[in-house]
Amino acid sequence: MDSGGRVKRFQHGSRVPGWDDSVDLGKDPAPVPEPAVTPVPEALRAEIEGYMARYPDRRSAVIPSLFAAQRHYGWCSPEAIDQVAAVMRITPAYATSIATFYDMFETHPPGGHDVYVCTNISCSLRGADELYLAMVAAAESSEDINVRGFECLGACDLAPMASVDGVYVGPLENSDAELIVEDVRAGRPVLEHKQLARRRVADPAANSDDFPATTTIPDTVPAPQAGPPTPPERGHGEATATEDEPAQ
Ligand code: FES
Repeated sequence: MDSGGRVKRFQHGSRVPGWDDSVDLGKDPAPVPEPAVTPVPEALRAEIEGYMARYPDRRSAVIPSLFAAQRHYGWCSPEAIDQVAAVMRITPAYATSIATFYDMFETHPPGGHDVYVCTNISCSLRGADELYLAMVAAAESSEDINVRGFECLGACDLAPMASVDGVYVGPLENSDAELIVEDVRAGRPVLEHKQLARRRVADPAANSDDFPATTTIPDTVPAPQAGPPTPPERGHGEATATEDEPAQ
């Protein structure tokens, strides 16, 4: 796969596709939501206020507060963001900037299938940006397939790669995007021949029928041998110091 030497880092503040999805630059920034017109469930409010009380700067509590909202609603919906912002007296843009920066926050309704295309450096050098666009195009008509660009998924040797509902596949070609969608729609294992779990490794028995399904842990562990370890021989028989007990 040819990336054409077009790795665009540090442009527009980020080169990650979709970096500005959550921004409508045609709108004025939203102000801090008015508490009087922003109802917040009491339990959620109490949890957020508890986090704020732990820090001298209340903004330090944004991450746990967003997690609280995500637990409450299942995702960081615009309403959840507004509620966090209202309690914390911050702008929704500030909370959104945190929620969209960290991959652990869901800023889209959960459900369906998650396809995370790694766009970090190793994958990017191997054409991940084009792969991401191919994946978005392939899944365009499938509302239940969520495609996201992701930071390094820790499988750089598969670059460019993706996680499909947690199953790592790679190295991928752009043409694999359609196959991934077909497999997901059909409920089949995704790109079986490119799954990390099915890759051959140095151990010839691994990932084969010969590989033991479970590791047997012995019932008994051999007892340590009695007696202190033998000290190393010293050259002249004079020194009495040890590392723990320096000489006087
Ligand atoms: S850069 Fe893609 S898995 Fe590490």
